[in-house]
Amino acid sequence: MQRSTSARWLDRARAVTPGGVNSPVRAFRAVGGHPVFFVSGQGPYVTDVDGNTYVDLVGQWGPALLGHAHPAVVEAVQRAAGAGLGFGAPHPHEVELAELIVERVDPVDLVRLVNSGTEATMSAIRVARGFTGRDVIVKFAGCYHGHSDGLLAAAGSGVATLGLPDSAGVTAEQTAQTIVVAYNDLEALSAVFASHEVAAVITEAVPANMGVVPPAPGFSRGLADLCARHGALLISDEVMTGFRVSPAGWFGIEGVPADLYTYGKVIGGGLPVAAFGGRADIMQMLAPQGPVYQAGTLSGNPVATAAGLAMLRNADYAAVDTAAEAVIGMVGDALAKAGVAHTIQRAGNLFSVFFRDSPVSDYDQAQQQDTAAFAAFHAAMLDGRVSLPPSAFEAWFVSSAHDDRALTAIEGALPVAAEAAARVQEASA
Ligand SMILES: Cc1ncc(COP(=O)(O)O)c(C=O)c1O
Repeated sequence: MQRSTSARWLDRARAVTPGGVNSPVRAFRAVGGHPVFFVSGQGPYVTDVDGNTYVDLVGQWGPALLGHAHPAVVEAVQRAAGAGLGFGAPHPHEVELAELIVERVDPVDLVRLVNSGTEATMSAIRVARGFTGRDVIVKFAGCYHGHSDGLLAAAGSGVATLGLPDSAGVTAEQTAQTIVVAYNDLEALSAVFASHEVAAVITEAVPANMGVVPPAPGFSRGLADLCARHGALLISDEVMTGFRVSPAGWFGIEGVPADLYTYGKVIGGGLPVAAFGGRADIMQMLAPQGPVYQAGTLSGNPVATAAGLAMLRNADYAAVDTAAEAVIGMVGDALAKAGVAHTIQRAGNLFSVFFRDSPVSDYDQAQQQDTAAFAAFHAAMLDGRVSLPPSAFEAWFVSSAHDDRALTAIEGALPVAAEAAARVQEASA
């Protein structure tokens, strides 16, 4: 059989790039097979190098809230690019984007723009340490906050699916100031506070890198109260949820304020923009106003911020929620009909499917699922021309462009994929 064009591109990629990819989860290690090279996208669809078109449920890993190549975003990018790609000087788009964030998220007074979620969380931690004069950071097992050294302790998704408990190249000293506790466990957190002076607790607003694990009732409030009582800052990482689950992110849904927030993905409209922001007295610690250094040549790039502004101004949250509801319903039905053990968890329009039959409230539980069944499901969906995130630990992303036609196509692919997963589960039973 002739090899696909994607397979041939992968050969070329492997010759010049480690593993052939520029971000590990793209490599399909967790599901087998090889990655598909996509060359175009329109609305809810993506098209590969062989000309095959798929319904897309990866959504650029979050940013594609309006679907692909939305005319308003493309037009904004073209206009901004035509005026110059960047000036290394302040630009009105940066101000407008920061204003929009401040308007929508009450606890955010000041914002600094950066280029990736990794930079946002790394910098938020630096400012929290500068502000409190303390060193220790607490994170939750299974939460992923990017790949900065101190945060690569028990991170989720890419790290978990590659089976690396940590990363080589990160020294013990670099993670020595990071304490990891189980998510949804306020008692464990209290014990840490009893024995350490904590600078900050960082949490995904809703963990979505071990699959979607919503905070248990009262958890977010308890977390905020504990931090306030012990003089630690709470950093709510909304890189995934920010401006995706509501116009004000997860804060807009749950309403528990944090001291600092981190954003990425949707606020760049598909281009590299991220941000961190929060209370004025904390953010004023940043250079040039304060002693905490942070900088970036391309930060606040006018083309990238134009994309972000266009996306945020055109977002249709009701349509995204409707699409999520529909996909959740049809996936649940198909898996139940085929007798596949599964649990779908959601936080607003963000959801994921665990291949196990009981709810998940932390990382230990998330790992106890049938990843082989997911791999079979994923491969069959791809054959049925639906592109899912290539890992059982990832959220699925819908957009406002997922219309009836796209949803019908997903529905059509599901029975065969559910049967494939069922066969794997039966074989291992
Ligand atoms: C919650 C969260 N924080 C931080 C990051 C890191 O963002 P980036 O990949 O832009 O560095 C991610 C990436 O998936 C994320 O999901």
